[in-house]
Amino acid sequence: MPIPLPSPRTYRVKSFGCQMNAYDGERMTELLDAQGLSPAPEGDEADLVVLNTCHIRERAAEKVYSDIGRIVKDWGRQDGSAPLIAVAGCVAQAEGDEIMARAPAVRMVVGPQAYHRLPEMLARAAKGERVTDTDMPAIPKFDTLPQRRRTGATAFLTVQEGCDKFCTYCVVPYTRGAEVSRPYAALMEEARRLVGSGAREITLLGQNVNAWAGDNDAGNPIGLDGLIRDLAKLPDLARIRYTTSHPTDMTDGLIAAHGEVEMLMPFLHLPVQSGSDRILAAMNRSHTVDSYLKLLDRVRAARPDIALSGDFIVGFPGESDEDFAATVALIDAVGYAQAFSFKYSPRPGTPAATMPDQIAPEVMDERLQRLQAAVNRGQYAFNQASLGRRCQVLVERHGKLPGQWLGKSPWLQSVHFFGEVAIGDLVTVDLTEAGANSLKGVLAPSAQGGPGPA
Ligand code: 5AD
Ligand code: SF4
Repeated sequence: MPIPLPSPRTYRVKSFGCQMNAYDGERMTELLDAQGLSPAPEGDEADLVVLNTCHIRERAAEKVYSDIGRIVKDWGRQDGSAPLIAVAGCVAQAEGDEIMARAPAVRMVVGPQAYHRLPEMLARAAKGERVTDTDMPAIPKFDTLPQRRRTGATAFLTVQEGCDKFCTYCVVPYTRGAEVSRPYAALMEEARRLVGSGAREITLLGQNVNAWAGDNDAGNPIGLDGLIRDLAKLPDLARIRYTTSHPTDMTDGLIAAHGEVEMLMPFLHLPVQSGSDRILAAMNRSHTVDSYLKLLDRVRAARPDIALSGDFIVGFPGESDEDFAATVALIDAVGYAQAFSFKYSPRPGTPAATMPDQIAPEVMDERLQRLQAAVNRGQYAFNQASLGRRCQVLVERHGKLPGQWLGKSPWLQSVHFFGEVAIGDLVTVDLTEAGANSLKGVLAPSAQGGPGPA
């Protein structure tokens, strides 16, 4: 029997996973607002729930099914109606048909390249149809999305999507498609709007953000460094960051920009995944440990205080104790300011999923713990080394205690401090205490109450 559906008036978008998904989630809320829907108040049930899923998190599909089950159980209504459930993001792209078959409560499946068509889908779903759209259309979704509206101190800006690298463990080239750069003019325009509505820091996003390429207003081809240099001229913008980069696409120009563009923050997320050349080759990473370390030397020569961040996978098929030890040694040698670590998990359709010598879960658990201990050591040491520094902090939100604020240092550390400031201020802070995950600081006397220099 078909489920009677409510006509959607309120919505909730739940985003999981990477910052790109957070960006897509924001754009979906803008789209739904433009359709006259409104966000469901915190704690209330919503007429429409969008699960903006991540395929990289462990047991990704299972978690989606349990989220769906929970929504139906908690929010199923007395009159037999249920909220409209839409599954978006990378799980939708990869496993959309299966979701439709297994989860009758799902009324819409929408891929990451198709969510600009959510309004049409919604109209059809509200009439009782079940709709799937996982196309990767040639006309970019960005052209048809509503204009940006947001007010936070920091903002994301997707400049590039997709990936041509085909690391053997990864679904992104399949779920997000080939590398596509958004045009220069559209990005400058979106950045201007973000700054106009209060953003002081913009983080440029892309699966391989440093592969971004475009033509500037004069028609000259430029890379990400050129885009960063032009964004740095926007009045009122104070900080620029970018993520995630692939070692192969770190150009000389981008490295030089780290030394030359003051607004480009001294932080680089540059995943290496493993410290073993044998595993890197099996992962199809197209770099070695040595080429990665040489690259870091060049980046550090351009910007000596740069904070480094990485992604690591433990338990890739065939990873021996020696391979794993080499990864820990690499982490200790580099001294990451932060890092993300993952247990390898096979993704259907990727080459690594059918490789021999899959690693036992208990071995993976143990390696993950040891790897995280190494990352924590490095992170703590990095934070300790910041003590005594005076730096700019961009105020992002209130802290937990009355009068306390939370902001970010140039090195992306969370800094807690007290004082008379406002969200979006750039203030000068002396760093006085350091833990593994955050620092405490004291407003420098001259910075009280003022926005501080950029
Ligand atoms: N298993 C474990 N980790 C993965 N990642 C990507 N695919 C997988 C997988 N199948 C990790 C990589 C990547 C990060 C975003 O997620 O480290 O850099
Ligand atoms: Fe996935 Fe590798 Fe592309 Fe990163 S570079 S998105 S890990 S295929």
